[in-house]
Amino acid sequence: MKCNFFHCPDPGFSRLYIFGAGGFGREVAWLAEQCWGDRVEVFFLVDQRAYLTPPVNGVQVQLVDEVTAREEDRFVVALGDPGLRRKATLTCQEAGLQPTCLVHPRAEISARVVLSQGSIVCGGSILTTDIVVGAHVHVNLACTIGHDVQIGDYTTLSPGVHVSGNVEIGEDVFIGTGANIINGSAGAPLVIGRGAVIAAGACVTRPVEPGALVAGVPAVRKR
Ligand SMILES: CC(C)(COP(=O)(O)OP(=O)(O)OC[C@H]1O[C@@H](n2cnc3c(N)ncnc32)[C@H](O)[C@@H]1OP(=O)(O)O)[C@@H](O)C(=O)NCCC(=O)NCCS
Repeated sequence: MKCNFFHCPDPGFSRLYIFGAGGFGREVAWLAEQCWGDRVEVFFLVDQRAYLTPPVNGVQVQLVDEVTAREEDRFVVALGDPGLRRKATLTCQEAGLQPTCLVHPRAEISARVVLSQGSIVCGGSILTTDIVVGAHVHVNLACTIGHDVQIGDYTTLSPGVHVSGNVEIGEDVFIGTGANIINGSAGAPLVIGRGAVIAAGACVTRPVEPGALVAGVPAVRKR
């Protein structure tokens, strides 16, 4: 299911579960607070008893197996690693939770952007036009995404990533902090294959093979 769920003052749910109580989890809790203040109650979820802790920044930590999900409850996964995020998504769905999108009030997104369920867009990011963002994608702080870009499910854009126009990014791609992806052209997008890893600070100027790790300026394949 797709949604366009931008800056909605009334999300239609009152309880948000954030899987992962680490650094990004705390940032996502702040994001939710910026969106809805105390109108939405936030909980952290973990999948192992060993990870249970006292409240983190005032937010209770619960075991996902012990959640009593109500139909209207929603979740997002705050784990940067695409594979771990895929697994945690399944765990949350098995617990009876439904995903939601989360968009910071100071992210700029045009009406010509489709954002799919479970995706998170952090503050300072700008998504221009004719962009399709798949499910459970992370667009971290201060990223820019230009025209005619597609991003596959479970892909991660770390802080400060810039994606130029006419780019196609596959599923499960990890893009490190500050990486730049140059533009493809109309009808011939620059393609980053499924499961690729782009190192922090890289400048991608050529297509990237599925599963490849590329680094540097210009980016070259490391493995
Ligand atoms: C790309 C990355 C995932 C690789 O990590 P890794 O699997 O442990 O790989 P290694 O450290 O063994 O590096 C593999 C090669 O890439 C090079 N490399 C790794 N990161 C690089 C970078 N950012 N820039 C340039 N080269 C880099 C290494 O020097 C090594 O090169 P070599 O084989 O010629 O010696 C990691 O270095 C990285 O950039 N992570 C991004 C972290 C990030 O942005 N997190 C966001 C948190 S919000």
